[in-house]
Amino acid sequence: MISTCATAAAKLILFGEHAVVYDQPAIAIPLLDVRASAAISIDLSSATPVIEAKDLRMTLPITEARQPSLQHIVNAIELFEARAMPLPATGWRLTVWSKIPFSRGLGSSAAISIAILRALSASQKIHFSSEQFIELSFELEKFHHGTPSGLDNTVIAVERPIIFRKGQPPQNIEPKSFTFVVGDTGVGKKTSDVVSFVAANYHSNPGHAGKIFSEIGAIALAGRECLEQGKLKKLGELMTKNQDLLSELEVSSPELDTLIGAAKNAGALGAKLCGAGKGGCMVALTEDTKSAETVSRALLQAGALKTFITRLK
Ligand code: MEV
Repeated sequence: MISTCATAAAKLILFGEHAVVYDQPAIAIPLLDVRASAAISIDLSSATPVIEAKDLRMTLPITEARQPSLQHIVNAIELFEARAMPLPATGWRLTVWSKIPFSRGLGSSAAISIAILRALSASQKIHFSSEQFIELSFELEKFHHGTPSGLDNTVIAVERPIIFRKGQPPQNIEPKSFTFVVGDTGVGKKTSDVVSFVAANYHSNPGHAGKIFSEIGAIALAGRECLEQGKLKKLGELMTKNQDLLSELEVSSPELDTLIGAAKNAGALGAKLCGAGKGGCMVALTEDTKSAETVSRALLQAGALKTFITRLK
């Protein structure tokens, strides 16, 4: 076992959440400055490997780590052993920590999975292709989210802006320069609960929800064009249209609506929730860095727990 450390970025869905579960295209970008980390180190203190979840302030021998809060980490280790190679039975520790807020639509579970898979493979000198990282992290997403589209783990595995359709390899997109502000409502929501809520609505009225999904898919395709051609104003309008459709799906929330309204009043060109919704984060498009700072201050004043400014290019 070689001591090593690996990281993985958070993600931001610009267009297409929920509709992507129903085979529509979606666009996501990595948030390169907000990352989850996993480190392998030598530890001779226990007869078994040790798991340390820094954010939870928990350190346990792996044999005692089968509990809900650590299951995610144990699953990643077990999947690595099943698909790559068995790990030494003692003498090492896996430490995990993350700057990505949990259950806020920024892909924290997929980023933790990928950081662990990257650290374990580096410590064993195993090379995984990006397709293998996508495939393994998708298995782990299924443990946590039931029926994920694969969007979150794919954009995090490749760490570049993509347009994605379920079951297909991602396509790169080459965006021009844009500045976004992300605002965290501070309200955590489980992705699987919100996906199940949308599924129940879809099954009770497939015609209505299906029409919304198709409209969101068309917005994602138009969004790609705006990103690649640098059409700032139109991109903002599409984000707002996407938000209106997400509201029709009933996945927005009063907190999200407040932050989205505050961003627009402060000069954002468009804004929407990002991720599963019913809480979590929103994203606003701004004209430049100066206007992003104004929007960020407005979001904090309107009750955002935290904001990030992120630039494409
Ligand atoms: C969650 O980040 C995105 C959803 O579209 C679910 C999925 O794609 O699996 C809501």
